[in-house]
Amino acid sequence: MKIVIPGGTGQVGGALRRALAQRGDDVVVLSRRPERLEEGVRHVVWDGRTLGAWATEVDGADAVVNLAGRSVSCRYTDANLRQMMSSRVDSTRVVGEAIAGAAHPPRVWLQMSTATIYADARSRPGDLAHDESTGVVGGEEPDVPLYWEYSVRIARRWEEEQATADTPATRRVALRTAMVMTPDRGGVFDYMSWMARLGLGGPVDGGRQYVSWIHGEDFVRAVELLLEADDVEGPVNLAAPEPLQQRDFMRVLRRAWGQPVGLPATRLMAEVGAFALRTDTELLLKSRRVLPGRLTDAGFSFRYPAWRTAAPDLVARARETRRSGRRSA
Ligand SMILES: NC(=O)c1ccc[n+]([C@@H]2O[C@H](COP(=O)([O-])OP(=O)(O)OC[C@H]3O[C@@H](n4cnc5c(N)ncnc54)[C@H](OP(=O)(O)O)[C@@H]3O)[C@@H](O)[C@H]2O)c1
Repeated sequence: MKIVIPGGTGQVGGALRRALAQRGDDVVVLSRRPERLEEGVRHVVWDGRTLGAWATEVDGADAVVNLAGRSVSCRYTDANLRQMMSSRVDSTRVVGEAIAGAAHPPRVWLQMSTATIYADARSRPGDLAHDESTGVVGGEEPDVPLYWEYSVRIARRWEEEQATADTPATRRVALRTAMVMTPDRGGVFDYMSWMARLGLGGPVDGGRQYVSWIHGEDFVRAVELLLEADDVEGPVNLAAPEPLQQRDFMRVLRRAWGQPVGLPATRLMAEVGAFALRTDTELLLKSRRVLPGRLTDAGFSFRYPAWRTAAPDLVARARETRRSGRRSA
């Protein structure tokens, strides 16, 4: 297949483009700063906002998988929140315009979205998990910081931009993705591992909030399935079927790294730590309990359904990556 991946230079894009190139696909990454990538991957310039020569890559392609968006691992200042919104909405809109203008539009458009679109699980009786049919989109939960609402608004606008695009010949899927765990440097697993290895990976604010996650290998396999699943359209949750509470999630991770100590942190300590690391506590404190309803219905079988087997695998891969000094697949 010819597959165009806007924003394919980041953590998730790295795992995806390497896997697709390895299986023989013709992979084109759209980036604001093209550099040489792996063999079999072409790198083309775009600005993420306006149509340009890059649109010819979309015309005649089999699929587009749009991953572009400013990183959410930052302080949620007004300026950063605005960039988080515009980078997602603008890039999705212009991808839609390129598909709409194509003489031979791609068969399928997989658009990144986020599991953060759902309400904090603690706002539902019994911390009920969200699947695509019974899940509740967030934004109106009581007792959560008001600015969390903005993250949900970003996710909604992101999905709306795809849903309202004028691309009738192209199947559209919104990938409501949980934290993607890859062993690469700089990703979310690397960050959590760093905390765990320092002995700081204890419960945060009691640790009852759920963590939804997906192993990078399963993320790639799920994308491969969705590229082919002609009857699947609309939002699809990409999350392992066993989300777990943050205190258990970190205990399993500490054990995988051989670190017996995991100091607990209060909400205030988390705020201070997040401030020092220039990130935001929503990533640690929001309760995300999301289930892969439609993926399971489509026959997807997870290679890593449980964190207790995923974590040691990721730790082994991270150790190997560090030893060999190379990036991981
Ligand atoms: N990582 C996760 O666990 C996770 C979970 C759920 C959803 N997601 C979403 O999945 C997408 C990819 O995640 P990731 O972790 O790979 O993110 P990432 O490492 O931050 O990469 C995202 C890519 O988006 C591009 N980008 C950034 N700002 C942009 C802008 N203003 N306009 C156009 N492109 C821009 C960048 O490419 P260039 O600099 O090369 O242009 C960057 O490589 C993101 O949208 C993220 O929100 C990630």
